[in-house]
Amino acid sequence: MKFAVAATTVALVASSVSANPLLNLHGGLTSKLGGVSTPLCKQQYLGAVGRPWEVNSKPGFTCGKLALPTLPMWDGGDKALCGLPLLAWTPFCRSGNAPAPLPTTGCKPPTTNNPHPYPDPTPECPNPKPNPPPVNPGGPVCQSDYQVTYTNFTTVADSGAYKGKVVGAATIDNDNYLTYALADSADACLKACSQMSACHFVNTYYDEEVATDYAPKRGGQMTCAFFRSCASTLKNTNWGGQGNDRPLNTIKNSNGYCLSPACQS
Ligand SMILES: *[C@@H]1O[C@H](CO)[C@@H](O)[C@H](O)[C@H]1NC(C)=O
Repeated sequence: MKFAVAATTVALVASSVSANPLLNLHGGLTSKLGGVSTPLCKQQYLGAVGRPWEVNSKPGFTCGKLALPTLPMWDGGDKALCGLPLLAWTPFCRSGNAPAPLPTTGCKPPTTNNPHPYPDPTPECPNPKPNPPPVNPGGPVCQSDYQVTYTNFTTVADSGAYKGKVVGAATIDNDNYLTYALADSADACLKACSQMSACHFVNTYYDEEVATDYAPKRGGQMTCAFFRSCASTLKNTNWGGQGNDRPLNTIKNSNGYCLSPACQS
């Protein structure tokens, strides 16, 4: 991640911290997987095996309250290391990831709030309560600090088993990929992204499959993929059914969240 200069020191400090339970002040600093105690942020892809659009990939961790025996829980990522004096001064530890530009192409213009999000008062009601004013009318729809760049994205598959059909589609962005996880909510994924140095974009979706290459991934859990930059929907080219040897999977309810300047509180 971005802590290249201090990486060696961090590794030394982190491993000495986790080696001594008395000094393990960060409850979530280490992930215990196969007896190895290494913070997720020190592992390739933060513990994920490959990328979610690849056959036999595996998520790195779970987010929120989701607990699975085969995956570590999110350990606070890079933020968990910010207690170390050497890192506390970094821009990320001081103020988190700077907002990123929204994609300029292939993405709907900023989603705007419905100007009338509240139902009209029912005529039977003699003294209807006035509708509360819409928050930020006409502004972007924000989920915490993230702008919702698309919801339930669908496209027409141009290859694979679903060629010509309307399908849900998730981001493929090899250049900006960080990791992926399973979660119980989009909120949990956005929180994890904010605790991950350089994370600016989250794509949440359900990856469903009849047979399984990795059961928990296909078990109806939300998949969250994390990226360095906000991807345009031109990159939503993972619609499932594209692998040769894998069982048919489908992508459902694919949503994009960009850490946008418009949503900073
Ligand atoms: C998403 O889109 C599909 C296809 O248009 C539709 O069938 C489905 O109901 C939508 N799901 C949600 C949650 O809006």
